[in-house]
Amino acid sequence: MARVMNFNAGPAALPLTALERAQAELLDFQGSGMSVMEHSHRGREYDAVHEEALALLRELLNIPVEYNILFQTGGASQQFAVVPMNLLPRTGKAAYALSGAWGEKAVAEAKSVAAMLGGEAYVSATTGTGDGKEKSYTRTPTELNDVGASYVHLTTNETIHGVQFASSPGAAFPTAHAPLVADMSSDFLWRPINVSQFGLIYAGAQKNIGPSGVTVVVIKKDLVESGRRDIPKIFQYRTHAEANSLYNTPPTFGIYLMRNVLSWLKEQGGLTAIEKVNRAKAGAIYSAISASGGFYSCPVEQSSRSMMNIVFRLGSEALEEKFVSEAKKAGMVGLKGHRALGGIRVSLYNAVLLEWAESLATFMHDFAKRNG
Ligand SMILES: Cc1ncc(COP(=O)(O)O)c(C=O)c1O
Repeated sequence: MARVMNFNAGPAALPLTALERAQAELLDFQGSGMSVMEHSHRGREYDAVHEEALALLRELLNIPVEYNILFQTGGASQQFAVVPMNLLPRTGKAAYALSGAWGEKAVAEAKSVAAMLGGEAYVSATTGTGDGKEKSYTRTPTELNDVGASYVHLTTNETIHGVQFASSPGAAFPTAHAPLVADMSSDFLWRPINVSQFGLIYAGAQKNIGPSGVTVVVIKKDLVESGRRDIPKIFQYRTHAEANSLYNTPPTFGIYLMRNVLSWLKEQGGLTAIEKVNRAKAGAIYSAISASGGFYSCPVEQSSRSMMNIVFRLGSEALEEKFVSEAKKAGMVGLKGHRALGGIRVSLYNAVLLEWAESLATFMHDFAKRNG
């Protein structure tokens, strides 16, 4: 079996241990004579998996009891709509801080929810520049106006632009009064955070914690209670909170695999330990960029550079294509930048090994020497 060094942006690399565990258990889950996928979501076997996944999340992220953890479907994109449906009152406002393309999508959905259900969603801070369809983002915003807002939405890591709130994202806006709602899809569980600084955190699993199909929502119970009731039941957070995410059939296999990944993460020493590895990986790639004498250039300002998705350019698109194709021959895949931006993107989620990042850094040095 030849597994490659996978730098995909998401779905992305999963820990081999988590996959092997799934492989070993696939046909006969705990002697039950069937796979976990074939079990009822209301049965004893699946229930243990569900509870373990919830408990591991609570333990790893140190989630206080005042918060519910929900397993949702529909991806982070569905949360772009579900957040305002629940939290934007009919005569209220929601403030959005933009540092990239995903935040743009979030506010666009919030505006359409507001048009349908009342309220107003507005951009209260943005670092986007340029008049074209695709704006350029090279840093996170530092100030915003949230006067009268029911919540402030931010994207802690912009996966396409490689822009991340580098220090504590929960303290990003010291003047904000409204609860912070964070899309953490691409930087969930890569380091410890202070959950109590947020009203709501959501993240699609397919980057740091599992396969696509599961979205984790961590929400303060008072926001669940105060959420709107004049929307369909299936979209109300309270429905899922009251039913422990078993109101309807949850994505059982995705949650099972997430459990395997979380259990691996705990074995690694949890978030403090994985943060060290993640910083070493990103350090190797950013050092290769800065040592290249301009052969590689990262557009993102130093203080906003992402530890999860590193974007950079080479001198021409032809050279970038050559880079991607030669890297692939050397067993490194998933390096092509997002189609909206071009260039190269290196995604370094938890399951990406330090050795892979070091191999890529060595490859970058050699490639620059040969083509510089
Ligand atoms: C930061 C961020 N938000 C939202 C999304 C959308 O996620 P999904 O495809 O799960 O809806 C992505 C996907 O890459 C993302 O990176």
